[in-house]
Amino acid sequence: MKQVNLRVAVLIAVLLPAVGPAGGQQIPAPAGNADNGKTLFRETGCYQCHGLAGQGAVMTGPQLSRTELSFDGFLNQLRHPANQMPPYEAAIVSDKDAADIYVYLRQMAAPRDPNSIPLLKATR
Ligand code: HEC
Repeated sequence: MKQVNLRVAVLIAVLLPAVGPAGGQQIPAPAGNADNGKTLFRETGCYQCHGLAGQGAVMTGPQLSRTELSFDGFLNQLRHPANQMPPYEAAIVSDKDAADIYVYLRQMAAPRDPNSIPLLKATR
């Protein structure tokens, strides 16, 4: 019995830090201009790989609409892409431009439920 209690205590001690208030703190999105971000998303060509609605495509680039990346993570991907994406230096996309694109992508509406569109409604 005592040993079981000890195991439970150890388990709680291990798990607690992960669920404590310090975890999951959101870094606030930078101030940015979504309208300008929309223009930049098209004019700098992000849409060519990520889709006009930021929906992404398997062969070209992941979904960006409503990105859950922090702004730091977003900017880091632009400056030092993880893999195949071309890098965007500050001379091409400034930090301010990146913030505008980020804000534009974050405020995008969620896609509609396919069942609310008659043509796509599941028949079963
Ligand atoms: C030539 C195709 C291409 C273009 C153009 C492009 N990307 Fe990407 N992007 C990718 C690919 C492929 C990835 C997957 C990671 C990698 O290859 O670096 C990616 C990943 C990302 C990610 C990380 C997404 C995640 O959730 O991990 C962000 C953010 C991003 N791109 C933003 C942009 C922005 C903003 C632009 C325009 C300034 C842009 N990309 C232009 C192909 C592209």
